[in-house]
Amino acid sequence: MPKLGLSGLKVLKILHLITACLWLGGAVGLYLIVFLLTKGDSAGEIYGYNIAGKLIDDLVIIPGAIGCLLTGLIYSLFSNWGFFKQRWLLIKWILTVYCVLFGTFFLGPKINNQPLIAKEIGLDALTNPTYLSHLGALTIGGLIQVCILIFMIYLSVFKPKGKPKNKVNES
Ligand code: HEM
Repeated sequence: MPKLGLSGLKVLKILHLITACLWLGGAVGLYLIVFLLTKGDSAGEIYGYNIAGKLIDDLVIIPGAIGCLLTGLIYSLFSNWGFFKQRWLLIKWILTVYCVLFGTFFLGPKINNQPLIAKEIGLDALTNPTYLSHLGALTIGGLIQVCILIFMIYLSVFKPKGKPKNKVNES
């Protein structure tokens, strides 16, 4: 497999960092909006918060997550980092794939559905069991995503090596 040169790696890092910023920034923004969802006191306000959350998901989080995954893949394929040579990188792969799947199949459908409910029943959404259970799931699920993304930034910067196998019994 051909490898990227020094400039190629720098450009790749810029793209990787921009997409990681979009993903985490979008996730934090959406999380704040999910909190505001309980505070609306008119049908328009509730719908507005929900549609703003969906826009952040569609236009910031999803492009950020796809970009991060793709730039990660380019790192693994076209640089010496590889896929599983380093434990921190293996963990990043597992967590990134987990976050993408959790976001796509668990959080995403709820984020898309909330504005539809709000548009249809307005303020009654605040006492609607489906709407409220989605809200609860988004609050907990969103917090988990944000924590995992921050943990991945820690892993990327510190790159903890873990214990080499031959030193396990020395401590
Ligand atoms: C498929 C998943 C991913 C792979 C394979 C991957 C791989 C890499 C690699 C090889 C580096 C270069 C390290 C260096 O040059 O020092 C890097 C840097 C970085 N990654 Fe990822 N990454 C992935 C996902 C993510 C995610 C989801 C985030 C955060 C949201 C993230 C945040 C960062 C940061 C902040 C750096 C810069 C670290 C530094 O320069 O000190 N990465 N990543």
